[in-house]
Amino acid sequence: MSNSTKTSSSQDSSEPKMSFFEVFKKFKRLKPIEHSSSSLGIVGFSIFTVFGFLICFFYLDYRVVTKGFKLHGQPQRFLWLGFDGDHVDKKVEFLEQGGEGCDLFKGNWVWDETYPLYQSIDCPFLDGGFRCSENGRPDNFYSKWRWQPKDCNLPRFDAKAMLEKLRNRRLVFVGDSIGRNQWESLLCMLASVIPNKESIYEVNGSPITKHKGFLVFKFKDYNCTVEYYRAPFLVLQSRPPAKAPPMAKTTLKLDQMDWTSVQWRDADVLIFNTGHWWNYEKTIRGGCYFQEGNEVKIEMKVDDAYRKSIDTLFNWIHKEVNTNKTQVFFRSFAPVHFRGGDWKTGGSCHMETLPDLGSSLVPSQTWGQLNIINEIVSDRRNKSQAMEVDVLNVTHMTSWRKDGHLSLYYLGPNAGPAPLHRQDCSHWCLPGVPDVWNELLYAVFLRREATRNNNSTTSI
Ligand SMILES: *[C@@H]1O[C@H](CO)[C@@H](O)[C@H](O)[C@H]1NC(C)=O
Ligand SMILES: *[C@@H]1O[C@H](CO)[C@@H](O)[C@H](O)[C@H]1NC(C)=O
Ligand SMILES: *[C@@H]1O[C@H](CO)[C@@H](O)[C@H](O)[C@H]1NC(C)=O
Ligand SMILES: *[C@@H]1O[C@H](CO)[C@@H](O)[C@H](O)[C@H]1NC(C)=O
Ligand SMILES: *[C@@H]1O[C@H](CO)[C@@H](O)[C@H](O)[C@H]1NC(C)=O
Ligand SMILES: *[C@@H]1O[C@H](CO)[C@@H](O)[C@H](O)[C@H]1NC(C)=O
Repeated sequence: MSNSTKTSSSQDSSEPKMSFFEVFKKFKRLKPIEHSSSSLGIVGFSIFTVFGFLICFFYLDYRVVTKGFKLHGQPQRFLWLGFDGDHVDKKVEFLEQGGEGCDLFKGNWVWDETYPLYQSIDCPFLDGGFRCSENGRPDNFYSKWRWQPKDCNLPRFDAKAMLEKLRNRRLVFVGDSIGRNQWESLLCMLASVIPNKESIYEVNGSPITKHKGFLVFKFKDYNCTVEYYRAPFLVLQSRPPAKAPPMAKTTLKLDQMDWTSVQWRDADVLIFNTGHWWNYEKTIRGGCYFQEGNEVKIEMKVDDAYRKSIDTLFNWIHKEVNTNKTQVFFRSFAPVHFRGGDWKTGGSCHMETLPDLGSSLVPSQTWGQLNIINEIVSDRRNKSQAMEVDVLNVTHMTSWRKDGHLSLYYLGPNAGPAPLHRQDCSHWCLPGVPDVWNELLYAVFLRREATRNNNSTTSI
């Protein structure tokens, strides 16, 4: 974040100037050279050349993509970025014999003309804020990348197969608004095969937009529900105990799950996520301190509190969830991509149209949280509890997708783009990156189902 060359004066600059800075930075990352030692003329010329080249590149691609041409040489175009565009490979299928050991989360983003899996305009279940293309985002490249694991192939997402597996069952997302992002993505992916959208409805009639708390969508033909519960910390946030220090306005009870947990404990599929609220600004600065037992721990650091809450989650799953019945997933943190600031101080991801192999923009907090998850999972593995939870280890793969965020296009179809200094570089356009997390969810879910059906008892 700090390697940005942007100065404070450039933050309210006009759009063309922004793009120049973006291109300049792109150039810098692609070919690091010593600017200080080269003459101004050379630098200027190089920038000009690269700028021109990139303009041609985007212009050509944009036309090709928007006109929907099927261009045979397409994958080659991305080879210079280090992407493997090969569709035909002899990798084992993840769901077939030999695929079980494959690490789905190691691989590459591959350009694929058959994506996206749905169009936002056909999906009534999306918040206006996620509809980037309807909200004016000019490119749709971000919806065209498929995830290709290094050592195996993912199954193609089959909404009917997934719905059939979910018949008479409940699938529940619990977490923050990025979890909601993923939940809405799955609603659209599943709804794409249901011609009568009226047969999918919120059981309490609640509208999807700007709703807090929880939402339960029922797919009538399959008698299944796909639900979302808002619990950004997963653990319980409530009033402090009687003798707490006065600066504690609320506390996070690190040893208790969110109060809604009784409502989803018995679901058939549980998908947790947390992370974006575990920072100083969203906790201690607002008077929210950490509590264990009856004690408020004024000194406790956010990272330690995060670790304790994840431990609480895993213990709770071990004790309270019948993992013979319920498949439990934990999706790891999805990185943000603000450059030159954060969401309040003019940080930007606007005009990012391509994935990035170097993940230098990703704040270090991301990797800190992932390390905590890794340590906890490794610890559980030693206690042979690890198999109770499947980790959707999306952090690394997602760190490359600086192009997938809402940026200026989150205000809804009639409001136009947001001002440049108010960009959203943490939520994701739909269709887009969360669809890929759901394809990974689908693959792991089907594998678990297969072993479940084959052997009456599940191996834990
Ligand atoms: C619908 O699914 C629920 C479980 O989610 C189950 O209890 C109920 O019996 C199912 N109804 C029918 C008609 O199968
Ligand atoms: C899960 O299945 C195993 C094997 O059948 C059984 O021993 C265990 O008690 C079951 N656990 C629960 C919570 O039902
Ligand atoms: C997640 O992926 C990273 C990078 O491939 C790896 O180092 C880590 O062990 C993985 N974590 C888990 C819990 O699978
Ligand atoms: C788990 O076990 C391995 C070896 O069996 C050991 O190296 C590792 O330190 C253990 N991890 C934890 C967190 O105890
Ligand atoms: C059950 O296992 C056999 C061999 O172990 C395999 O051929 C078959 O496809 C499996 N069935 C399912 C539903 O996964
Ligand atoms: C089913 O269980 C048997 C023994 O209990 C085991 O050998 C076999 O590998 C299991 N099959 C699957 C697909 O898990």
